[in-house]
Amino acid sequence: MPPPWPRICDAVGYPKHASLATMKIQNLFDLSGKVAVVTGSTKGIGRAIAEAFAHHGAKVVISGRDSKTCDETAQSIQASGGTATGIACDISDADAQANLIQTTTDRFGPVDILVANAAINLHAGSLLDTTAENFNATIETNLTGVMQLAQWVIPGMQAAGAGSIILISSVGGLQGNSLLGPYSISKAGVIQLARNIAAEFGKDGIRANAIVPGLVKTDFASPLWQNAEMAQERIDKTPLRRLGEPEDLAGAAVYLASRAGAWTTAQTIVVDGGAVMMGR
Ligand SMILES: NC(=O)c1ccc[n+]([C@@H]2O[C@H](COP(=O)([O-])OP(=O)(O)OC[C@H]3O[C@@H](n4cnc5c(N)ncnc54)[C@H](OP(=O)(O)O)[C@@H]3O)[C@@H](O)[C@H]2O)c1
Repeated sequence: MPPPWPRICDAVGYPKHASLATMKIQNLFDLSGKVAVVTGSTKGIGRAIAEAFAHHGAKVVISGRDSKTCDETAQSIQASGGTATGIACDISDADAQANLIQTTTDRFGPVDILVANAAINLHAGSLLDTTAENFNATIETNLTGVMQLAQWVIPGMQAAGAGSIILISSVGGLQGNSLLGPYSISKAGVIQLARNIAAEFGKDGIRANAIVPGLVKTDFASPLWQNAEMAQERIDKTPLRRLGEPEDLAGAAVYLASRAGAWTTAQTIVVDGGAVMMGR
């Protein structure tokens, strides 16, 4: 039986003479020189992902609707030794998206990694009370906006022969939901969008995946986790017996953005303390 290293080295592209000690496995998560755009990264999950990317060497674009908050967040990353810039963008605005990608390219170069994280929820309650206006606005921001943003970055990734597109979905997009109808439908669409991008552009070296967070303690989800009874019920039904922190999502994003995830595409990665597998 031959030793496995030549085969493993072939698979990951390391020289054949590499040994276990010299394979530099620790560099699998290195993002040095990569340009990453993270929408909705002034706080919450997006910020945790942007900070982790910067920590692993990426040049990170911080984005949200308010330019002052974008700049402050970018400055905070710079103060910690990272490379970051702030570019405001409402993801429901096609012109603002174009500006986001063009300004990123001008400042840092072509986009290697896109994390489409920003999203809205406009309605909580019965489907019967959902207005077409709310439904369409939710789909327009959470799904159409994400699709258009992908359209802006894909040609540059094709030219580079590589790219990682990471779409932030929700457990609401995996399960039936009687409270957050339009939001959940938009998030189910996001999962399929990742698969479609993966199917069409894998041949160009572009990978696309969805991350599905469970309940995470951010402003966005505060009506859920600040309700003590609701939060406790969720914790009791979560194998890891706690709610998520924004940082809990950073590892999956770094994996998908980096060489560590080089053969991972079209996937839906659930990061939720195990709750969905328990029927939550
Ligand atoms: N927290 C959870 O429990 C949970 C669970 C499942 C999925 N998620 C998903 O995780 C993602 C991030 O949510 P979060 O909980 O981290 O929220 P968050 O802490 O409230 O942060 C939301 C971020 O998005 C920005 N944003 C909001 N609307 C935007 C728009 N129209 N255009 C551009 N940026 C916008 C916000 O900045 P500005 O307000 O300044 O624009 C902020 O930077 C969302 O896709 C959400 O659906 C969250």
